[in-house]
Amino acid sequence: MAASVIAKAFTASLLITIGLALPQEALKRNSFQGRDSNTALIQPVHQSFPLGTIKPRGWFRDQLTLEADGLAGNLFDFYRFVHDSMWIGGSTEYSVLNEASPYWFNSIVPLAFGLDDPRLKGQIYAYMDYVLDHQQDDGWLGPETTPETRGLWARCYFLVGLMQYAQADHTQTNRIVDAMHRYVVIANSMLKDGFAGLIEKEGQNYDGDGFGAMRAHEMHIPLQWLYENHPRNNSQLIWETMELMIEGSVAANSDWRKYWVKGVYPEVTYTPRNEPFKDLFNHGVNMAEGLRYPLSIYRMTHDEALKTQTRTAVDLLSQYHKSLAGTIIGDEFITDLNPIRGAELCTAAEMTFSMAYIHQYLGDNDLADWAELVAFNAVPGSIFPDWWSHQYVQQENQPWSRNLAVSPGMWVNVGTQGNVFGLEPNYPCCTVNHGQAYPKFLANSFTKTQDGGIAHVLLIPGSITTSLDNNLVSIQADTMYPFGMHLKYTITSSTDFSFYVRIPGWADESSTVTGPDGKTSKVSPSDQGLQKFSVRRGLSSVTVNLSTEPRVVTRANNTAAIYYGPLLYSLHIDANVSTVQPVAFSGDSIPSASTTTHTHDHVIEPESVWNIAIDPSQIRVAQADVSTLANPIWDLNAPPLELRVAAVEIDWPLEFDTAADPPLEPKITGKPFSARFVPFGSAKIHMAHLPVVQMDKVDLSN
Ligand SMILES: *[C@@H]1O[C@H](CO)[C@@H](O)[C@H](O)[C@H]1NC(C)=O
Ligand SMILES: *[C@@H]1O[C@H](CO)[C@@H](O)[C@H](O)[C@H]1NC(C)=O
Ligand SMILES: *[C@@H]1O[C@H](CO)[C@@H](O)[C@H](O)[C@H]1NC(C)=O
Ligand SMILES: *[C@@H]1O[C@H](CO)[C@@H](O)[C@H](O)[C@H]1NC(C)=O
Repeated sequence: MAASVIAKAFTASLLITIGLALPQEALKRNSFQGRDSNTALIQPVHQSFPLGTIKPRGWFRDQLTLEADGLAGNLFDFYRFVHDSMWIGGSTEYSVLNEASPYWFNSIVPLAFGLDDPRLKGQIYAYMDYVLDHQQDDGWLGPETTPETRGLWARCYFLVGLMQYAQADHTQTNRIVDAMHRYVVIANSMLKDGFAGLIEKEGQNYDGDGFGAMRAHEMHIPLQWLYENHPRNNSQLIWETMELMIEGSVAANSDWRKYWVKGVYPEVTYTPRNEPFKDLFNHGVNMAEGLRYPLSIYRMTHDEALKTQTRTAVDLLSQYHKSLAGTIIGDEFITDLNPIRGAELCTAAEMTFSMAYIHQYLGDNDLADWAELVAFNAVPGSIFPDWWSHQYVQQENQPWSRNLAVSPGMWVNVGTQGNVFGLEPNYPCCTVNHGQAYPKFLANSFTKTQDGGIAHVLLIPGSITTSLDNNLVSIQADTMYPFGMHLKYTITSSTDFSFYVRIPGWADESSTVTGPDGKTSKVSPSDQGLQKFSVRRGLSSVTVNLSTEPRVVTRANNTAAIYYGPLLYSLHIDANVSTVQPVAFSGDSIPSASTTTHTHDHVIEPESVWNIAIDPSQIRVAQADVSTLANPIWDLNAPPLELRVAAVEIDWPLEFDTAADPPLEPKITGKPFSARFVPFGSAKIHMAHLPVVQMDKVDLSN
């Protein structure tokens, strides 16, 4: 993401490789036969609903409202890279990619329509209106007027934003579709001209590092939507443009089909420090996006091997570089799984969407579990409870959050401010991109199944009103999940239909469901985790009671982490939070026009022990009996669900001004005690990856 901070030498070497061979396969393009079966796109197992169909309820609505009232929902009014973006006539961009306001747009469109928030709708309308009004005569969207400055990448997320907008607000659909068709013409002609806009040449300056080619497939989601829903007479041109994007990525040596291969993928879990796999494939955010590259081609070629490869990709990532909280450990490049390495917030935001999307095509239950894991752990763990500040990188073990006093530190391409909660710690990309995670999670929480039914796949509280074959169906899901294990559905329908609830992979067989007939039985999900209910027309209700036990995941060198349901748990550490002036990513002070009374950086210091070992054979679930959840919920002491774990204080050395890796032979310095463990997402400083020791029985009752 931080294009500008990648070493110049690296840029030069990439440019040299681009100059080399154009693989033969890049030159072969399917000839387009019209919209027959060969040119129909593959349909997913789970179809997402048009943006705006699903509305949030309960705790999730509260968090989206905080997001709207917080940083993401106010960037348009004050933040220099959005408010003064070149896209809307301003002059402030953080890099030549000109990606800041498109990132913002891609986030705020689903937030505005998810919440039906008139203020946010005003922002996105004003922005879109300006950009579409200023579409250039040749169809180009955005501020750049010369071939030297026109890169395609930032257009990808602008188009994703437009696509979502057109789905949610039909008064704008024609205008948006017109603009997209005009844009396809210019993009197509640029790509035919030596992949202009995708591969920077000598004398040009729009993407020296080659991020756009790595993310070429990001154009596919909006163009595939256009192709299926509003092709007009341009199906062939749209299709060819998508093929050209992929060919360009191949020509730039950015073909993810060559990377997600066992033996090629860098299979290292723990390596020495400061030896990153320096290659844009190994960039955490690129990887989170690149997971979707094979599927974007699969939709067009129907090549089942690409679907299989997606499973391989997910499995490789999971085995070698997945963090305990569900994101990718990469700062910004993947290295090892040591628990003080960072995971960039943009990566978590992209992973939230990618795992939901990949689940829609593969249907495998563990993928939806993974989407929940990142949304309930990595994402809130890096965002302040009031949604006004965020981290650049999150550590699994992070006893404090401050400007680390070691430079260069253990991070590869991240500075000492990386774990500070602030306005733009280290780099502004996460400031403008973090907002997409929750609104898109909502938009993908219910899906349409292949048999024409509806499934609740991401188990947050929400509602959906839609028509199935012209019959109106409305479903309301009420739950405190993941803080409670009970889900209640109220359904009205003018027709019989099949309703499904996804039963998470970790749920015990003793979990129960009560169907529309009032009968309670044990869960009996399909292979892919779907519990089916045959719902009759009229008013019905369904309940699901999940049951589970805490799960201990062991890691290298006698260490472990603890989960309960979809939540990762970490030690409760009393925190002293103080606010300081925000620091700009450049290290200067931020122009005052680009701050508000809410924009702070924070220093968080521990005020209780953080240096412990645990005995994971001794865990107790401590669930408070509550009827409502606190808001903000992702705050220390807010969730009603905690654990008690047998723990003991140990000597834990420091390294790089933070906790070193878990000690191999922990030296015990205290008496065993009952430690409070809280959801990782609620603890802004936390210890989650801990050495294991055996202890005598500890009283966990308090
Ligand atoms: C497609 O082309 C035909 C023939 O030129 C024209 O009559 C029709 O209006 C076009 N349709 C659209 C949607 O542009
Ligand atoms: C499901 O859980 C709810 C809330 O905890 C409880 O009131 C209800 O009795 C449970 N139902 C079954 C069938 O276990
Ligand atoms: C275990 O610890 C040793 C010593 O610090 C280290 O060299 C090794 O890489 C660790 N193994 C793993 C798998 O982390
Ligand atoms: C909290 O941290 C601030 C800043 O480091 C410090 O000035 C203050 O004394 C601390 N408060 C407590 C109660 O330790």
